[in-house]
Amino acid sequence: MQGCNRSQKIAICTVGLPARGKTYISRKLNRYFNWLGYKSRVFINGNYRREICGTECNSQFFDPHNEEAQKARSDCAKMALQDLIQFLKNGGDVGILDGTNITRERRLQIESDLKQSFNGIQTLWIESICNDSKVIQNNIRLTKINNPDYCNVNSDEATIDFLNRIKMYEQIYETITDDENLSYIKTMNVGADIIVHQVYGFLLSKIVSFIMNLHTYPRPIYLSRHGESQYNVDDRVGGDSDLSELGEMYADKLADFFFKEFPTKEMKNEIIFFTSTMRRAIHTSDVVANKLEIQPLQLKTLDEINVGICDGMTYTEIAQKFPSDFQERKINKLGYRYPRGESYLDLISRIEPVIFEIERSRQPVMIIAHQAILRCLYAYFHQNEIPEVPTLDIPLHCVIKLTPAAYFCDEKRVLINPQTGEISIKEEYVQEFVRSKSKQKSFIDL
Ligand code: F6P
Repeated sequence: MQGCNRSQKIAICTVGLPARGKTYISRKLNRYFNWLGYKSRVFINGNYRREICGTECNSQFFDPHNEEAQKARSDCAKMALQDLIQFLKNGGDVGILDGTNITRERRLQIESDLKQSFNGIQTLWIESICNDSKVIQNNIRLTKINNPDYCNVNSDEATIDFLNRIKMYEQIYETITDDENLSYIKTMNVGADIIVHQVYGFLLSKIVSFIMNLHTYPRPIYLSRHGESQYNVDDRVGGDSDLSELGEMYADKLADFFFKEFPTKEMKNEIIFFTSTMRRAIHTSDVVANKLEIQPLQLKTLDEINVGICDGMTYTEIAQKFPSDFQERKINKLGYRYPRGESYLDLISRIEPVIFEIERSRQPVMIIAHQAILRCLYAYFHQNEIPEVPTLDIPLHCVIKLTPAAYFCDEKRVLINPQTGEISIKEEYVQEFVRSKSKQKSFIDL
């Protein structure tokens, strides 16, 4: 973890009516923290309720006058909080409590329990307010009617019941007010307006900026390595070699691919196009840019991993000249830093601003860069475990098209034969929550 004091515990608690994107925000933050190397976990009140009270609770269960149900729900919320506290005590850095927390009384109780458990814990409240009925309906459609609460009813019944459930919550909803003395962010209508109150410090300020840039517009993100370079041919690392003959052919075929992918002038002009400042990436990008008549933005941030004293060597030469370094990297490829160079962990912090840029963009994004850099970017969108990053498969002459949605990231790999232009497509569909469920106890979301 870089840029923060590890002993500082952080709790993030959501506030808001159902279907206001709280789970979406929680998952996004969780993914961001884990990717940065923090130990972060989401505790979803609703999952505790489903586990303990069952999945067949209709809207009556959420009636604030239903004392028995209220007590059961409050017990579940307490369990979620206790598990969050335990997680932080056992070495966790960031605990995210994903619940409605819509009464002032509940919030004050949570704040006090957290303060009693940890000296100097930073608690940030994130309230999501939305009065755009289209967004709410869409949230219900995307996330609620397919969830386990409604496995035995049809989608119309599920929607009606869910809207009734929201009405139950509305009866007791108290928005956060300044006199509660909480650090909070209020985001209204998916970030159209944001209020920030008493939010201080490096990490919490970054969260504000992260939340400001969140949106759920589905747009593709295209990742491609540059075409094969001279150094790729020789199996050398580092350097700033230009494309090989085959690499030049790939650049042409890649340009053809994108030309077809964005058939109109308007579509081409929408593309946000990033590349690095290295010759092989610039050369590939220029061919694409000329064909599409667009301009790439060259970012130093996207330059390949700096291999320090190993620059220009083959892996065999590194093993011969620096056997202990070679061994060390083999054992810990993630944390190993080339002498006077970088590690994968360094890369992750280097490219963090690019993640913000991509998250912010509501238009298609195209990135032509390098193997190690693309591994880090890809891992963010696919929520790979951090130790997996240095071995992710990012081959040459392949376009990876990612389309992030609320709870999953769609992936299509387009393998392009640089000589013939022949294309083969590999479709993959990785649902984040399916992946995390298979790894986790059912009511904790990693
Ligand atoms: O070999 C191509 C390359 O982009 C090198 O420039 C870079 O050092 C390397 O890949 C990164 O991959 P790995 O971390 O697996 O050595």
